[in-house]
Amino acid sequence: MSSTYRSIAWNPNKRRYDFVAVGSIVAFLAIAIGVQAAVHQELTIETLLIRALGAAAFTLLNIILCIGPLSRLDGRFLPLLYNRRHLGVMMFSLALAHGLFSIIQFHTGGTLNPLVSVLVSNDRYGTVAQLPFQPFGLAALMILFVMAATSHDFWLHNLTAPVWKALHMCVYLAYALLVSHVMFGVVQGEVSRILGWTLAAAVLTVLTLHLVAARHEVPGDRENQDVRRDGFVDVCGIDEIPDKRAVMTCLSGERVAVFRYDGRISAISNVCQHQNGPLGEGRIVNDCVVCPWHGYEYSPASGASPAPFTEKVPTFDVRVIAGRVLVHPQPHAPGTPVEPAVILETRTA
Ligand code: HEM
Ligand code: FES
Repeated sequence: MSSTYRSIAWNPNKRRYDFVAVGSIVAFLAIAIGVQAAVHQELTIETLLIRALGAAAFTLLNIILCIGPLSRLDGRFLPLLYNRRHLGVMMFSLALAHGLFSIIQFHTGGTLNPLVSVLVSNDRYGTVAQLPFQPFGLAALMILFVMAATSHDFWLHNLTAPVWKALHMCVYLAYALLVSHVMFGVVQGEVSRILGWTLAAAVLTVLTLHLVAARHEVPGDRENQDVRRDGFVDVCGIDEIPDKRAVMTCLSGERVAVFRYDGRISAISNVCQHQNGPLGEGRIVNDCVVCPWHGYEYSPASGASPAPFTEKVPTFDVRVIAGRVLVHPQPHAPGTPVEPAVILETRTA
């Protein structure tokens, strides 16, 4: 968490993450070029590079898209999520290199503007077997550029979280365009059929993981309607909440995280202001809820981040009656302090 904008706030974890990512990309490129060169000795180094860079970018995009649902299904994948945006920028760099080399190789030999040439050099837009596949790549590259250029938290704050998130959901549009780019490219090119099967397996994996993760989330979105007294809703027994952790419930259509800590109970919105991370899956450290995704912190009693940070989430009224935790579904404005319910006093009352 940072209150000022630095290009990247490096720490040993980020260095290790980027080192492993860059090392894996270099290894992937070396293997892809080596294998293709051995199998297709007629290919020039330009074609080998174009193919290897495109394959690396697309593979990395598939990995990036799988990290979200995998982290929802199993917390052991969370370290991958932590710096996923670095992977996004690396993927864009590979895609840009692939696109530029392709344009230089195939579209700079004539009088047309190379970008116009990408769009018109094959004009069989009315066919399926010969449909121009490169414009799909160009459109995807433009979307990936906007996303990579706005990936820093500076843009998240200046564009506002909803606009930034809507913009970054365009990754799925870019993905659909790229699947078309590769699919039509494979159909028309002399590239191996294995690429076609790999593409189908990749798309199936991404789709399946998203569906399974969405299914996994459904119970958390089911409205808790166990209304007890004065509009308060019964959430769980005190002992069902592990110390310094939370139980999640759904109230008024919103996910709420109910934390137990130091003999007290507080409830805040489950949605982190940074990138919608699930606060209820975080822990309380030094009196603050720590978001499991990138470490933003919030006071469980006020929903406000400790100074100098300014993020705030809504808070909820809480009661503890006869060993049960009750929460009022009406949220307070983000950052409104709410007196925590005290466990011991209520038990002896
Ligand atoms: C200006 C944008 C782009 C252009 C002009 C372009 C052009 C091309 C061309 C000409 C090929 C066929 C290469 C060959 O078989 O010799 C190709 C294949 C491919 N492209 Fe693109 N591309 C663009 C953007 C992208 C992007 C953004 C990605 C992924 C993020 C991508 C991924 C791929 C992949 C995976 C292949 C198949 C590689 C292989 O045969 O192993 N392309 N592209
Ligand atoms: S810190 Fe990034 S989503 Fe919470």
